[in-house]
Amino acid sequence: MKKFACEDFPDKFKISVSCASGTESVLKKEINRLIGVDVPAINGRIEFDGNPALICKCNINLRTADRIYIKTGEFTAETFDELYDAVKSVRWEDYIPMDANVYVDGKCVKSTLFATSDCQRIVKKAIADRLCTKFKLLRLPESGSTYKINFYLFKNVVSFYVDTSGTGLHKRGYRDKVGIAPIKETLCAAMLLMSDFYKTRPFADPFCGSGTFLIESAFIARNIAPNIARKFAFNDWKNFDERFYKSAVEEAKDRENFTIKPDIRGFDIDKKAVELSLHHARRAGVADIIKVENSPIKKFKPWSECGTIVTNPPYGERVYGNEDAKRCYIELGDALKNSPLWSCFVITPHNGFEKYFGRKCDREKKLYNAEKECRYYFYYPKKETR
Ligand SMILES: C[S@@+](CC[C@H](N)C(=O)[O-])C[C@H]1O[C@@H](n2cnc3c(N)ncnc32)[C@H](O)[C@@H]1O
Repeated sequence: MKKFACEDFPDKFKISVSCASGTESVLKKEINRLIGVDVPAINGRIEFDGNPALICKCNINLRTADRIYIKTGEFTAETFDELYDAVKSVRWEDYIPMDANVYVDGKCVKSTLFATSDCQRIVKKAIADRLCTKFKLLRLPESGSTYKINFYLFKNVVSFYVDTSGTGLHKRGYRDKVGIAPIKETLCAAMLLMSDFYKTRPFADPFCGSGTFLIESAFIARNIAPNIARKFAFNDWKNFDERFYKSAVEEAKDRENFTIKPDIRGFDIDKKAVELSLHHARRAGVADIIKVENSPIKKFKPWSECGTIVTNPPYGERVYGNEDAKRCYIELGDALKNSPLWSCFVITPHNGFEKYFGRKCDREKKLYNAEKECRYYFYYPKKETR
């Protein structure tokens, strides 16, 4: 990474990366691979010493991160006065320019101060008071770009963050239309990274919906940075040097490998889902390696000796009812009976999944899809034939 200097922006701070519950170990590995930092997640976040270049690198490259923050402080606060004083002691003027549009969001969990909206008001007031004093203003004009500040009050310890991502990092930009119960791109990427998917292994999603697993697996296979095509909150910040971003984009593009031609196939009973998957694959720039068929699970046949399925089938709750869901699980199990070298990874909240699929899983993990508690079932290739 080239070295530049942000004229007004600090060049050293704590970076805090958040992710979905259950995916922390994958994020930890990603961070280690990307920047060589090996630290555990605490309360769903991974924190390490960073700089503006790493802010860009993490936003562009991390597949499983929800958001990248700058952590500006951590204090004990049991009263509103303590909260106000804590906020006011942070050097906000280092990060936030005079004309910033400051937006505050936060959460109070298991703390004496429990009213989030009251805390939000106090935090906003204390930041405004500090900035007015430092910039010698009577009030903030708030006419410039947005700086979103987050606070998290947990067991009377409050932490403050500047959000560098803006829109959540699951919004890669390729999915502009909504299918039936789409999965977040970040959760999908975490599931793929937990599976045995590898670029030379045929890949299938027999319930492909809007194509998320097909596209994310193509990104992984070709080493395409998931957020290469989108912008972040810091892109609008006048005090953040654009050259850090340009350099991180160049670096990510250098790592892409379009000569890799993985065999990625999607199937769906719904014609519209097939069109949607192809539309999204074109937008993501990976349509050349993705095949999608309008076909029900009962017709699915593994087409090579080995392969990987990672999928998010119907849960039996919305458009497709419980009987449909059960039939899908039975037919998925049947389709794989004579293909012992195919692995299968399935997320569902349905507690009869293993029974209908016809096999006890090798491993399972609790994950949340759209805040619904689910199990992620791992079926590896059968041992005796591996
Ligand atoms: C939960 S959605 C998958 C969402 C997808 N992961 C995404 O991110 O958009 C389940 C999909 O299964 C499809 N489906 C339902 N019954 C099916 C069947 N019998 N055979 C194949 N696909 C089916 C639905 O049309 C729907 O697109």
